[in-house]
Amino acid sequence: MRPVGMRRIGLSALLALGVGVSGAARADAPPMPLAQGPLSHTDLAAAQRGFLVYQGVCASCHTMNALHYRDLERLGLTPAEAGGIAAAATPPATLDSRLKGAGKVDFGGAVPPDLSTIAAQRKGGARYIYDFLTGYVPAPDGVTLRPGHYYNTAFPGGQVAMPPALHDNAVKYADGTPATTRQEAADVATFLAWSADPNLTARHEIGLRAVLFFIFLSFVALGAKRRIWRERT
Ligand code: HEC
Repeated sequence: MRPVGMRRIGLSALLALGVGVSGAARADAPPMPLAQGPLSHTDLAAAQRGFLVYQGVCASCHTMNALHYRDLERLGLTPAEAGGIAAAATPPATLDSRLKGAGKVDFGGAVPPDLSTIAAQRKGGARYIYDFLTGYVPAPDGVTLRPGHYYNTAFPGGQVAMPPALHDNAVKYADGTPATTRQEAADVATFLAWSADPNLTARHEIGLRAVLFFIFLSFVALGAKRRIWRERT
């Protein structure tokens, strides 16, 4: 009787934990996972949407100098599509041009950083970028904003010179995904994580294959060891 009771308690504790975890899911949580585990891969559809957000919203202030329009082919776009995007940019560009954005913007001394590898430069990566883009709130009581600054819960110190950039329907997605602020933030965060580490998917695939190969190799070694010792005795 007792073990059953114990097991029941264990089970309900687990269930409670599960409910607790899902119940604790924050209302401002990203609409899709942004953490990068050892087996994660780049969600290419999200990264393509994220490029659209960058191009339509962020590029007016931020450059992405490490990227060329040709690199968009690695996101799954055809050369013709990437070429079309380059040709439609202002000023018109080619596949070999860098993603320059509008150029220098002055924000009272604060310079919009180049976004090519920003996801690697900030602790928390894509998740930080998501929290930053969705972190704008009115300044709390007792906080006086410096001129030209906005309050952002994710930004160290709270006061940032970048105005809130995203709002619902800031872009129109070709794949029909509703362009909510959170979706746009998650997509552009995915795109920036990709640009900071474009080989992540390939690297994780190679890693997985290597692990499988070594497991296979251990069995071969174990078999050989058994055979050798059987023959000797
Ligand atoms: C109107 C101009 C403007 C637009 C549009 C804009 N930014 Fe910024 N951004 C800035 C400025 C200025 C800073 C520097 C802020 C500071 O240091 O106080 C900045 C900083 C940042 C940072 C660095 C924050 C940190 O931790 O230091 C990130 C990441 C960022 N922007 C991402 C984006 C993304 C993604 C978009 C598009 C969705 C975007 N920005 C749109 C002006 C802009």
